Amino acid sequence: MAPTLETPRLVLRPLTLEDAEPIQQIFPQWEIVKYLNAVVPWPYPRDGALAYIRDRALPAMARGEEWHWTLRRKEEPGRIIGAIGLIRGEREHRGFWLVPEWRCEGLMTEAVFAVNDYWFEVLGFPVLRAPKAVANAASRRISEKTGMRLIGTEERNLVSGRQLSEVWEITAEEWRARKAEFGV
Ligand SMILES: CC(C)(COP(=O)(O)OP(=O)(O)OC[C@H]1O[C@@H](n2cnc3c(N)ncnc32)[C@H](O)[C@@H]1OP(=O)(O)O)[C@@H](O)C(=O)NCCC(=O)NCCS
Repeated sequence: MAPTLETPRLVLRPLTLEDAEPIQQIFPQWEIVKYLNAVVPWPYPRDGALAYIRDRALPAMARGEEWHWTLRRKEEPGRIIGAIGLIRGEREHRGFWLVPEWRCEGLMTEAVFAVNDYWFEVLGFPVLRAPKAVANAASRRISEKTGMRLIGTEERNLVSGRQLSEVWEITAEEWRARKAEFGV
């Protein structure tokens, strides 16, 4: 199972069933879901967070196929403000979201540094790939800031419909060469 991770301003706690209710309170917002994979149901069901955590995320974590964390500010660790996850597979290795009121302060960039390091240095994967909608400027900017390369474009089914997306990539070697610059 995933360990608790820390960044300068955040604590990343492994996802648990107890997180379902607070996540249900904050996650179903168009500003959060619009660029997420269309596997996210929309409109979001009343038991959406519980069903996702209980039936998909926790079993995948137990199988060693996925690693999910809630994001909390160290100043207020009892309150979830977002989530980030890693997924074993070919194409979509990482996903994240943050409530709108805490955006543009570099918090998700911090979380990405922490989970990228976990992906490469603890899990030992050779490459991390993440697709993002071309329209999702904030997410693409995080890719740029964390040393990823654009390797292609493709159409993907998102909650907001079929959209042109970019696929970003970073290898373990590239991560190791640059992570000192990122303060990891
Ligand atoms: C993507 C997301 C997690 C970013 O979180 P965040 O904590 O605000 O990200 P950071 O502050 O670490 O970095 C965002 C960067 O994008 C920039 N940015 C934000 N909105 C932007 C916009 N509309 N146009 C251009 N740049 C933008 C910020 O200025 C920042 O760059 P900077 O540090 O160079 O100034 C958040 O917007 C979110 O939850 N979106 C909805 C879910 C989602 O789309 N997830 C990703 C799916 S691929």
